[in-house]
This record gives sequence, C-alpha cells and structure tokens, in this order.
Amino acid sequence: MKESILKTDGLYHVYESKAEDGNVVALRGLHLDMKEGEAIAVVGPSGSGKSTLMKCLGGLMKASAGSVSLAGKNMTRLTGQELVELRQKTVAFIFQEGNLLPNMNARDNVAQPLRHQGVASRKALKLADAMLDQLGMVHRAHALPMMLSGGEQQRVAIARALITKPRLILADEPTGALDPVTSREVLALFKDLHENSGVSFLIVTHSKEVAAFANRSLELRDGRFVAEHGANVDVEDLGKDRELIIDETGTVTLPPDLLVRIGGAGRYTVGNADSGYLSLQGEAVEAMGKMELASACPACKHAYDGTEEQLCPSCGSSRPMVEVKE
Ligand SMILES: Nc1ncnc2c1ncn2[C@@H]1O[C@H](COP(=O)(O)OP(=O)(O)OP(=O)(O)O)[C@@H](O)[C@H]1O
Ligand SMILES: [Mg+2]
Repeated sequence: MKESILKTDGLYHVYESKAEDGNVVALRGLHLDMKEGEAIAVVGPSGSGKSTLMKCLGGLMKASAGSVSLAGKNMTRLTGQELVELRQKTVAFIFQEGNLLPNMNARDNVAQPLRHQGVASRKALKLADAMLDQLGMVHRAHALPMMLSGGEQQRVAIARALITKPRLILADEPTGALDPVTSREVLALFKDLHENSGVSFLIVTHSKEVAAFANRSLELRDGRFVAEHGANVDVEDLGKDRELIIDETGTVTLPPDLLVRIGGAGRYTVGNADSGYLSLQGEAVEAMGKMELASACPACKHAYDGTEEQLCPSCGSSRPMVEVKE
C-alpha cells in the first residue's frame, strides 16, 4: 500500500460572522485519504465548499476542527516555520485567479519560489525561463501580470507552481480561465507529471476532461462528501456510476436526484443490514409533502424546462428540492 500524501480526519471549517445570517459551516467533518501518486477530482455545485477545502488542505486557512496531514506530518501541530518549510517542499497551489504577484514580471514570479528555497538568483531565472518555455510563455517573460490575458496569467501561475517540483499539486479550477486549446495543453502537462513523475493532484473542476484525468472523483455537497465516482466520470451527469459515502459518524447524505427517486425526506425502515446490502423502505413523511426538483433556479431564475439537471447551467447553483403543490 502506498503512503498517504494527504490525509484529513473529521475536517470542519466554520466562517464566523456577526452578521445576520450568522456563521457558515462550509466543511462538515470530511475524511480523505489520498495516496502518493493519486489524482483526485473534487466536483460539486457552487458554494459546496470546494475552495474552502483546498485552502484548509494547503494550510492557507486553519481548520476549525479535525486534522490535516501532509506527507505524514500533522499540519495542525506544526509551528509557523515548520509549516512553511513543509509546504515549500511538498505542495504547490494553482488557484482560479490571483496567483501572481502584480509588481513582478512573469519570469520573476516563476523564479520567486525557488529563491525562497535559497536557489541562487541567476540559476532560478534560468530554470524559470525553461519552465515558461514549456508552457509556451517564454516570449512574455518580461511582462507584468496586468499586461497578460487571463489564460496567459494562468499559464505563468502553473509554471510558478511546477518550478519547485512539488509532490502534490492542489488546483482550484486551474483551467477555468483558459481557452479549450490551452486548457488541453495544460492538462497534457499535468498528465505527463502524473504518469511520469508520480506527482499527486487534487483538482477542483467543472470540466469533463479534467475530471476524466483523475483516478477518482469525490462529490462535495453542502460541506460533505456524498459520493465517489471512478475514472471517466461525466460531470454533467453525476447520477451514473456513483458510490455513496457513509462517513465515520454514520451519516449518509443522499444527492438530491436520488432523494427525488426514493420519494423525498421521510422515515424509512432498514432491511437486509446483515447481508452486506442495505435496503431502505418507506414513504416520504406526510407533513413534508412530496418533493421534486425546483423548476427554476432560485439564484438566477434560469428555467430548467423539465430537465433533470442538478446544477444551474447559467450560475452553477445547486438545484434545490421543493414541495409539490397539489
Ligand atoms: N470568507 C468567507 N466568509 C463567509 N462565508 C464564506 C467565505 N468564503 C466562502 N464562504 C461560504 O462558504 C461556503 C463554501 O464556499 P466555497 O468558496 O468553499 O465554495 P465553492 O464550492 O468553492 O464554490 P464555487 O464553485 O462557487 O467556487 C459558501 O456557502 C460560501 O458562501
Ligand atoms: Mg470555489
């Protein structure tokens, strides 16, 4: 069995707020065990906690409860300096945007993580140029980020992430700002690093191609992993080929489409528990009425027109269940 590169136990994150709507529980007790060399995609609707998860995993944000271990070291127990060193050695981030220091040109941005590790400036710049070349950006090495297009900035950000040869790359929608061609090139580079250098990837994505590159995909909803999918998941139809996750507290959260199919919230009797199967039989609770998928998006009013879509195609919000009006 390979060693874990990243492991979490009962990870919670609460955004505290004194405002009227109060605290937001963004992560609700997540367990994850990622083996060295694995590529995992995290999929799920807008607001489900994907970015929060990435920030907690990379040590950019402190978890409210639970632990995160990176390369076998419990990050929650490290001092500031130890944490910085562990991160520098092991992990690199690629965010959707805002990865670059605005007052440094592309080349200096890419070289900077190496300089932080004590590499001599001249050598760092040479390696930066080589990396920019791999990403087709060496001709823009002297441009400041604001002079680059979104896609170009992202390619520089990827060069910056790869320059330290990290064992793990945490990426939040890394190809979100890229055109299809550049996006494919970046993915090819990721694949090469994964297959030939054994780099592990945890990638938040809405893209089919990116999800298909992963060995497995975890479906996040409302701060919980609700299901897991094998390779080649179709992110537009998460209903296929889905394994539900029961977490360590015994909680299973049904994805909304399944909830609709079994008749909605209610009381169910459990049968077959000893056989390795679990069958649930029952009816939706009277008082809750019968539930169905909402016909329009509550956020942007997009009309679903009889489709079974789970995510709003125009704003990405999760499609809620509503009571059927008799
Ligand atoms: N700084 C913050 N303060 C308070 N609440 C926050 C903050 N950042 C995020 N949240 C809330 O936490 C929840 C999870 O947000 P998060 O950004 O992790 O979602 P996401 O899955 O990355 O969404 P998206 O796909 O839109 O990027 C949301 O309900 C969001 O409103
Ligand atoms: Mg996000």
